Amino acid sequence: MDLNNTHVALRRCWHPVARCRDISESPTGVLLLGENLVVFRSGDRVRVFYDRCAHRGYPMHKASVEAGGLRCGYHGWLYSPSGECREIPALPSDTAIPSRACLRQVGGVEERFGLVFVCLDDPTPGVTLPELPEASDTTFMAGDLPVLRARSCAGLLADNFLDTAHFPFVHAGTFGAGEDKVVGRFDVRRSPGSNVAGEFAFSASYEHVFANREDPAVARGERPLNQTRRLLYRYVAPFHLSLRIDYVEAGGTNVIGFFVCPETDEYCRIFSTIWRNDLAGDEERMLQAVDFELEVLKEDLRIQESMATLALPLPGAGNPRGAARHPAEIHTRADRTTVELRRVLAELVARSTD
Ligand code: FES
Ligand SMILES: [Fe+2]
Repeated sequence: MDLNNTHVALRRCWHPVARCRDISESPTGVLLLGENLVVFRSGDRVRVFYDRCAHRGYPMHKASVEAGGLRCGYHGWLYSPSGECREIPALPSDTAIPSRACLRQVGGVEERFGLVFVCLDDPTPGVTLPELPEASDTTFMAGDLPVLRARSCAGLLADNFLDTAHFPFVHAGTFGAGEDKVVGRFDVRRSPGSNVAGEFAFSASYEHVFANREDPAVARGERPLNQTRRLLYRYVAPFHLSLRIDYVEAGGTNVIGFFVCPETDEYCRIFSTIWRNDLAGDEERMLQAVDFELEVLKEDLRIQESMATLALPLPGAGNPRGAARHPAEIHTRADRTTVELRRVLAELVARSTD
């Protein structure tokens, strides 16, 4: 089985579609799983509908705002904030409005740590929204990376985020330390007992040596370049990821949030934010940290954009040992986290299509 960006099971999962601060009362068009959606703010809520007027299909992201709702730019139908048609200008005002004259709803809309999440259909039981405790911890400051669109597969982007064996090869220009090619044993835990909630989620922890080029004490000769850091990966299906990095010698914590929106079969948008507790409110250093993470992300995207097949291979449902076997791939002991990703997604697909 292969999981591409528009697999039907993904309609029953949560996906990020926009940053909250980019959504205003003016409607915006976004793409999710090949569907065009319109997003706007009305009152204190973000509203999301399929981007199609019920009359003749004109895109509602081109509508004008009126009474907190939307007026279509083609024949002027007026929709309330909750999507019911309230006025059809071409009909006398005492004419009944057809009950079907509504904008098509999505299954769910939620705002969390600065992102708008959408589920197109009803969420599959056991599927949860991601949580990120550091985002509401006032000792951390946040820095957003620019939202990037890349020709890529969301499953392979998640695979790449959870993978550490590529560090010395892909990230030699940023943090990859040539000294630490061997991947040690990750402690991988499924919920409960992991650092994430939900049935389709796991966490993985690991400690490794890396080149800390950001540490000013290295330039002063006070600390060695190669230092230790503890990694805690948190994965929530389908494509919500974070990595908490605790620096053992230099101190401080860096959390990288990585939330992927599968737009179409070929394209994803990536919402990434970093949270740091070691910058003492210094905005300039945060900008430098964001630039550094952006370079790291671009190194990863160069690999992803080269992939010929935009799908994540998943183990078949009939596999007796539950191992992540697929004829297109070979797994090793160094791939524990990414094998777990495949297991979780295979279970999710099976549950979603029961
Ligand atoms: S297409 Fe929107 S009012 Fe006709
Ligand atoms: Fe990477």
